[in-house]
Amino acid sequence: MGRKSRDKRDIYYRLAKEEGFRARSAYKLLQLDATLGLFRAPMRVVDLCAAPGGWSQVVARTGCACVAVDLKEMAPIPGVFRVVGDLTARDTVERIKAMGGADVVLCDGAPDVYGLGDIDAALQHRLVEVAVEVARDLLVPGGAFVSKVYRGPRSDRIFRDLRRRFSDVVCAKPKCSRNASLEAYAVARGFGSQDARGGRGVVPFVACGFEDFDADSSYPLRLFPDREYAYRDPVQMPINPTHLAATTSHRRHIPDEVEPLEETAARPSPPPPPRRPPASSSAVAPAHDAASLAAALGPKNSDGVVFDDAAGAPRVAEE
Ligand SMILES: C[S@@+](CC[C@H](N)C(=O)[O-])C[C@H]1O[C@@H](n2cnc3c(N)ncnc32)[C@H](O)[C@@H]1O
Repeated sequence: MGRKSRDKRDIYYRLAKEEGFRARSAYKLLQLDATLGLFRAPMRVVDLCAAPGGWSQVVARTGCACVAVDLKEMAPIPGVFRVVGDLTARDTVERIKAMGGADVVLCDGAPDVYGLGDIDAALQHRLVEVAVEVARDLLVPGGAFVSKVYRGPRSDRIFRDLRRRFSDVVCAKPKCSRNASLEAYAVARGFGSQDARGGRGVVPFVACGFEDFDADSSYPLRLFPDREYAYRDPVQMPINPTHLAATTSHRRHIPDEVEPLEETAARPSPPPPPRRPPASSSAVAPAHDAASLAAALGPKNSDGVVFDDAAGAPRVAEE
């Protein structure tokens, strides 16, 4: 796949590179903010699960102060204070709390996905539940909470819980989020208000960024007649990405000296090995080490990671 093809298929990936954002997800927050009006400087914003930093960049551009928290390291952004830590660990929460309260708490948290809808949703919901607890500790009265929520059997519970604590709760879907994606965003405002609805009633659905580009459409490389297209690299490559460990362990099983393909192709293929009688299950040696596991599982999934593009990036639900 050519490197320009994602620029055609994913307009927000391309715009992010052109407009200096680290992640296409920046447009989700821009669209939520444009429709629902979330930020007014000089607010204090805590961005949970912030790496690589697209949302923090959006917050910084509004002139609000931002504390960004993630398991992964994040490259610096002017005006953003970074905390590396696990959101589910008490000491991380204590470190954030020590920095003071917040007017807005954001959470775009997504654990590593399995590609199994219900399991991915359950893991993601656990992260949202922790983020709600953190927001309860940090938010000033009247503050707001915005969180990604994978729609699934338990998502109703999350919205009900938010309605007990906030006066105004909506379920929002920004145009940058693909239709097929499980994700939506809970936007809860009016923390601690007397008007909180005790969890009752229908949560309104709000489409955000409606007039913007469609995340499910492909666009020509030459978007504007008066502007030439030029390929750009991503603004910020991930620091220590998880797929690197997987690809490195995969490569350990490839001999240093690999014969050039042409030579291998020119040589006649060796005769097939003699057929052995089927082994009884007790005779099969257990695959203990990574190399024998790789041989047993076959080349496609020897390191347990599914790749979906030429660059070898692991498949992710949505960013
Ligand atoms: C979709 S990405 C966030 C993208 C970000 N909003 C942006 O615009 O760049 C999800 C992030 O959640 C983080 N994450 C997942 N589980 C976490 C946890 N327990 N504590 C902190 N961060 C976590 C991941 O490391 C990942 O960076």
